[in-house]
Amino acid sequence: MVQARVTVDRDFTLGPVPRRLFGSFVEHMGRCVYTGIYEPGHPEAGADGLRRDVLELTRELGVSVVRYPGGNFVSGYDWEDGVGPVEQRPRRLDGAWHTLETNAFGLHEFVDWARQADVEIMEAVNLGTRGVAAARALLEYANHPGGTELSDLRRRNGAEEPFGIKLWCLGNEMDGPWQIGFKTADEYGRLAAEAARAMRMIDDSLELVACGSSNLSMPTFGAWEQTVLTHTYALVDYISLHVYYADSDGDVGSFLASGVDMDRFIEAVVATADFVRARDRHTKTINLSFDEWNVSYRHDPEHPVATEAEITRNWAEHPPIGEGDYDVTEAVVVGTLLNSLLRHGDRVKIANQAQLVNLLGLVRTQEGGPAWRQTIFYPFAAMAQTASGEILRLSVTSDHYTTARYGEADLVDASATWDAATGRIALFLANRSLDEAAEVTVPLHGFTADQVVSARVLATPEGGDRFSANTADASPVGLVDWDGAVLEDGALAVTLPALSWAVVEVAVTPS
Ligand code: AHR
Repeated sequence: MVQARVTVDRDFTLGPVPRRLFGSFVEHMGRCVYTGIYEPGHPEAGADGLRRDVLELTRELGVSVVRYPGGNFVSGYDWEDGVGPVEQRPRRLDGAWHTLETNAFGLHEFVDWARQADVEIMEAVNLGTRGVAAARALLEYANHPGGTELSDLRRRNGAEEPFGIKLWCLGNEMDGPWQIGFKTADEYGRLAAEAARAMRMIDDSLELVACGSSNLSMPTFGAWEQTVLTHTYALVDYISLHVYYADSDGDVGSFLASGVDMDRFIEAVVATADFVRARDRHTKTINLSFDEWNVSYRHDPEHPVATEAEITRNWAEHPPIGEGDYDVTEAVVVGTLLNSLLRHGDRVKIANQAQLVNLLGLVRTQEGGPAWRQTIFYPFAAMAQTASGEILRLSVTSDHYTTARYGEADLVDASATWDAATGRIALFLANRSLDEAAEVTVPLHGFTADQVVSARVLATPEGGDRFSANTADASPVGLVDWDGAVLEDGALAVTLPALSWAVVEVAVTPS
């Protein structure tokens, strides 16, 4: 049996839970928009073409903010193509994904969707093929009340009221050679600074995100952040991070320890941003926007998924790119990535799981058919709905194991929040062991524990294995009520099944 001790102390808090940690991402890619959130004629779609079943699942997830319209897509996108009468919108080649973009869905449709989904919009501007002029024109179109050519065009296009978008990404993954119009750090830093300056001349209350590295293994990682922030520090609020983990080589131990790598990634970017602050005598702090994160599907030799390079999309409209069924293991890893983000909520203020529907999705849909919850839906929804109040800084001692990719990793992983308003502690616990249950003791310093309010666990389902997944026909994997969390002598005692992620809510009185 794995042993761990997770100590909670009321005096050790990191600050409020940032609601924007529970963000997601909708890109014009694969079937995320078309036949994902938008499918005119579908039995579940309203007159606006928005799928009500997907809207309902989005609200159930508790998603707070959604990044749009890309991703790599945005770096070749002309936002003007997506506004105005739909029948007059141009059909364009999307070079990022080698697909055909009809532009039937654009900014107004997304704003309508976001209102119905009850999410904030995080809008990205194109700094690949375009620049300062297009960024400020889009801002004027979206946010200016009226009386100018662009704001009046928005009104004529059916939106009398401005969209009021506060959060903007200055491009996407501009360090990547795959990006249309990719740049050196100096080229991008200068352009991002000038775009930010021009946007702030229209509205200084905007919150702006500069692109960090596309991932931790980029050869320019670190130097890129340093240079970009040297140009933009005074003008932006956040630097971005992106990562996708996968069980790509059968080394499941390393895959399960992905959260260890995410911790290090976050801490490295914090250190780099704070270095620039110190060196250049800035007083404000740059926070982190982890605006793409997820796991991608396991490599299964018996059911190989075509690699991106192998897929010939041949300029098709919304081909099924990057779709698959997430399994139990992937859901547990997603739970640990959520733990990592929450543990760093003093600096990671925005995080966007990528992507919402179909492509690496929390939700999957069939064209003309049902929508259902992937396994990774459950930890996301549970944390978004349960984490509240203050983040607790935990002390964790756990049995550990050695991984090829990341060195030593704790077998038990944890994060927690304390909400004085509800009198509840929420604990999010994972057991990375594939074959042993874990006994976790949770002393609650500064609290008297009154009762376990709820305890739910995601683990291998009865009759299944760690590869069990949800499909259109059956959903065997989810969070289920379980009796593995009890109060013993004022402490919480939790028994986690092998390979599991759990959420436990405890009613407490401060002592
Ligand atoms: O989310 C899929 C793609 O992954 C995004 O378009 C890009 O930004 C990232 O590389």
